[in-house]
Amino acid sequence: MPKQTWNPDKYARHAGFVAELGGDLIEMLAPARGEMILDLGCGDGALTAKLLSLGCRVLAIDSSAEQVAAAAARNLDAQVVDAEAMTYEAAFEGVFSNAALHWMKRPEAVIDGVWRALRPAGRFVGEMGGARNVQAVVDAVTKVLGERGIDAVACNPWFFPDEATYRKLLQDQGFDVEFMQLFPRPTPLDGDIVHWLKLFTQSFVADVDESEHEGIYSAVSAQLETTLRDDDGNWFVDYVRLRFKAIKPAS
Ligand code: BEZ
Repeated sequence: MPKQTWNPDKYARHAGFVAELGGDLIEMLAPARGEMILDLGCGDGALTAKLLSLGCRVLAIDSSAEQVAAAAARNLDAQVVDAEAMTYEAAFEGVFSNAALHWMKRPEAVIDGVWRALRPAGRFVGEMGGARNVQAVVDAVTKVLGERGIDAVACNPWFFPDEATYRKLLQDQGFDVEFMQLFPRPTPLDGDIVHWLKLFTQSFVADVDESEHEGIYSAVSAQLETTLRDDDGNWFVDYVRLRFKAIKPAS
């Protein structure tokens, strides 16, 4: 059983902001007409469709069959692929990734696959959760699970690197890092944070009996009242993003 699954309808309802906020990343990629672009971790294909509308050709990949089906329903070329085991060879001018790389805990394998997928002078442009991303959530989940004898560190599915760590991973592969920035992006939610928790924190409760999930989510939500709820009662999430642009040298 996968520890994290995606329901495209719920994703669109409670996390549609992810693609909206990642939209200007496309400007950093600046795809030219006719270029081949790989959208790594395409989700439901919202940004893939934007890339296509700019005239480039796009292959969209994701490890979630449900998300790939949602992307294919938009008439996109979408395939279920594990980004830690890609086998593309010099096939793309650009690799683009928004809000996906932090789910992959073997970054060396991903970066190696991206390197091989790119043609000389190709570019790798991405945004992911960076160091201390959703730290208040992680702390609250750790506390609530700890009180139930569960080690949250062992079931944490995320890799949130700082700038130096990710820069070194890219440089060790041979990339020239043209741009790298870590920045906070506190992000308002439309509804209750429990919807967000149910969407994104499944791995933490995967081994807990389902009858206990509601209780855990309520306890986490209660923990977060003082940190992630503003004076008007609106919830937000303490996102921190890491953005980068790296170039595979021409020779
Ligand atoms: C993010 O996109 O930053 C994120 C995704 C899943 C869990 C936590 C954060």
